[in-house]
Amino acid sequence: MSQFCSLTNKVALVTGAASGIGFACAEAFYRAGANVLLTDIDSAAVQRAADSLSGGAGRALALQQDVGDEAGWPLAVNCAVEQLGGLDILVNNAGIYIGGALLSNSREQLQRLNTINVESVFMGMRAAAAVMQPGGAAGRGGSIINLSSVAGLIGVPGHSAYGSTKGAVRLYSKHAAVEFARFGYGIRVNSVHPGVIDTPMGAQVFDDLVEIGMAPDRDSAKVIITEMIPQARLGSVSDIANMVLFLAADESQYITGQEFVVDGGASAA
Ligand SMILES: NC(=O)c1ccc[n+]([C@@H]2O[C@H](COP(=O)([O-])OP(=O)(O)OC[C@H]3O[C@@H](n4cnc5c(N)ncnc54)[C@H](O)[C@@H]3O)[C@@H](O)[C@H]2O)c1
Repeated sequence: MSQFCSLTNKVALVTGAASGIGFACAEAFYRAGANVLLTDIDSAAVQRAADSLSGGAGRALALQQDVGDEAGWPLAVNCAVEQLGGLDILVNNAGIYIGGALLSNSREQLQRLNTINVESVFMGMRAAAAVMQPGGAAGRGGSIINLSSVAGLIGVPGHSAYGSTKGAVRLYSKHAAVEFARFGYGIRVNSVHPGVIDTPMGAQVFDDLVEIGMAPDRDSAKVIITEMIPQARLGSVSDIANMVLFLAADESQYITGQEFVVDGGASAA
C-alpha cells in the first residue's frame, strides 16, 4: 500500500535544519523516504541533527551553510545533486527574528533581517530552480516551500521589521510560483505562515512582548499569547512540518503560489 505523502526517490534540501522547525521538516522528509541535505550556520549542531536520523530508506547528510552568503548557495545545491542524486524539494526555513518597537529599530537591524530572511529566499529559489528546471542538473521540476509567518500577513506590535521581511517572502513566493509555472519549469512555490511555535525563536517573541511593555515578564507574555490563540496552545514544530511535508509531496501537485497559515486559528479570530 502506498503511503500518503511518500517522498521515496526524492531529494530535499532544508536550511536552518539543526533545530526547531527546520529539523522537524528534515525528520518528516527522512521518515517519508527522502534523501535529505540538512544545512545550517551551526556546523556542529547540523552534523548532530543529521546523525540523529537513522533507520529510514533514504540518507541524511549535513552541510554548513550561511543562507545569507551568496557563494554558498550553488555549493549547497550541487552537494544535493552530486551526493544525494538530484534536487526535488527546497525548504527555505532558516531565518532570524529581531523584534522591538518601530521607533527603536535601527536600519542595520532591518538590513540584517532582509539579508537572512529575504535575500536568502531569493538566492535559494534561484539556485534551486536553475537545477530543478528541465535541462538542469537535476531536471525533474520540484517544490519550493518558503517559511513566512503570520507576521507576514497581519500587523503585530513589536514585529514591524521582522514582519516586513516575512511579507516580502509571501509575495516573492507568489511571483516565483506564477513565473515558474508560466515558463514551464514544473516547479511549485508556496509559503507557510506559522503562528507562535514552541522553539527558541518562539521564546524570543515572549521576551519582545516584555521589552515593549505589553507584559510584565516572560511567563505572563506566554499566557497573554496563548489566550489569543483559539486552540489555546502554542504550535509545535510537527504542526508546521506536517504542512510542509504535504506541500513537498506530489499529493499537492496542483497547488502553487498559495499561502498556508498554521496558527491554531489566531489570525482568524
Ligand atoms: N518559532 C516561531 O514562532 C515562528 C513563527 C513564524 C515563523 N517562523 C519562521 O520559521 C523559521 C524557523 O524558525 P524556528 O522557530 O525553527 O527558528 P530557530 O531560531 O529555533 O531555528 C533557526 C535555525 O536556523 C539557523 N540559522 C540562523 N541563521 C542562519 C543562517 N544565516 N544561515 C543558516 N542557518 C541559520 C539556526 O542555527 C537554527 O538552527 C524561520 O524562518 C522563522 O522566521 C517561526
